[in-house]
Amino acid sequence: MPLNQRKFYIETYGCQMNFADSEIVNSIMIDNGMQPVHKAEEADIIFLNTCSIRENAETRVWNRLKEFRGLKRQKKNDLIVGVLGCMAERVRERFLEKEKLVDIVVGPDAYRDIPNLISEVSDGRKAVNVLLSQEETYADIAPVRTTGNGVTAFVSIMRGCDNMCSFCVVPFTRGRERSRPWQSIQDELKQLSDQGYRDVTLLGQNVNSYHDNGVHFADLMYKASQVDPEMRIRFSTSHPKDFPNDLLHVIAEQPNLCSYIHIPAQSGNSEILERMRRPYTREEYLELIATMRELIPGVSLSTDIITGFCGETDEQHAETLSLMQTVKYDLAYMFAYSERDRTLAQRKYSDNIPEAVKKQRLAEVISLQQSVQEVNNRAEIGTRHLVLAEGSSKRSDDQLFGRTDTNKVVIFDRKNFDVNQYVDVEITGSTSATLFAEPVKVSSIAEFFGTTVTV
Ligand code: SAH
Ligand code: SF4
Ligand code: F3S
Repeated sequence: MPLNQRKFYIETYGCQMNFADSEIVNSIMIDNGMQPVHKAEEADIIFLNTCSIRENAETRVWNRLKEFRGLKRQKKNDLIVGVLGCMAERVRERFLEKEKLVDIVVGPDAYRDIPNLISEVSDGRKAVNVLLSQEETYADIAPVRTTGNGVTAFVSIMRGCDNMCSFCVVPFTRGRERSRPWQSIQDELKQLSDQGYRDVTLLGQNVNSYHDNGVHFADLMYKASQVDPEMRIRFSTSHPKDFPNDLLHVIAEQPNLCSYIHIPAQSGNSEILERMRRPYTREEYLELIATMRELIPGVSLSTDIITGFCGETDEQHAETLSLMQTVKYDLAYMFAYSERDRTLAQRKYSDNIPEAVKKQRLAEVISLQQSVQEVNNRAEIGTRHLVLAEGSSKRSDDQLFGRTDTNKVVIFDRKNFDVNQYVDVEITGSTSATLFAEPVKVSSIAEFFGTTVTV
């Protein structure tokens, strides 16, 4: 079948970076004449964009692939199934040889090659490209957005990771760190603004190490803030090492740079942090948090936590709980440690915490975090926030949901308000996950924060 008669479907797992990548693949496929469809059953080509971060992320993909076996039989093997993303790098032999569930395997730096690979796959032949690159940033490819409702968008600003945290597989699946040229990021932001997007998240595994011809992340954020004073800019993820004060200043000064920082601690114990190869101590981390709160009053913070890392004692786990109690994060992503092949932790330490203990500790951090969020959110009642309406609430079309500058989800009655409008709201109720509000009036960043962006 010629390329331009084919229909494709992409299913995405893993982090925001993978979702952004799927939009790049979407663009490459459409440029080559293929048509996107929304159901696997309707497609001639099914891609799973996969994640390797923990065992269960991979298990989900294996199970999904097995479900496609039946479809393949029905379509008499005319159906092409492809694995993209982080698992491609790790388990390509198993995909192709042992399980025979997959026809194409494409690593995260080889997406430009997808049309060639599709042409190569015929008569049951397989095609693979998992080469990692030192340069590829897909800077010139305009993503075809499938997420975000025309309101929110992700923009990749760098790829890969050189940090080599001892537990983490990402440096192996995504290769060396590289930054995308700042002009191409600025151009993409301009386009998004012209298309009406109002909330953009800049993505990288460690945005603090962004650099392009003397432009560092704080400079990039400043440039991003100037593109459209009514377009909000967020970012993810920052690493606690070398977190620069000038970044905090620029966030504090520019009203469209959101007062929200995802700053993963991973653990509250310095010895565990050292074993994780996270180059900061508990004390240094807490100092950084204090500086953030001093320089950006009211800043909202979130974290990632791993429980049951190699050799973690009850006392060390208790230090993670006490760190969370001290910082009082507004949001946390919490995981039980899952050993990954090739990582330093796998080679050097024993994965010796029983699964039940990892899970018990995970349950404890989740329960603590929930009570912290309940208290944090209750304290918001009576305050005013500028919410960008992103869509109808899950429960009812009569309600809109959106997020505050501080990344909290707010639900309010739709009344005459519209999606993609900034609404000035008063918070009237809360749960640990959501704020409820009374909408007051349509507003804008300039009006609400009472300042204009300095040009
Ligand atoms: N670059 C980001 C993290 C990306 S991975 C950063 O450094 O902050 C997202 C999160 O998954 C990590 O922060 C960590 O908490 C978790 N994670 C990574 N590897 C893991 C593993 N082997 N087991 C459990 N959780 C893991
Ligand atoms: Fe993994 Fe560490 Fe890189 Fe994050 S910074 S992607 S945790 S190696
Ligand atoms: Fe998963 Fe790869 Fe992201 S391993 S978390 S999809 S970088």
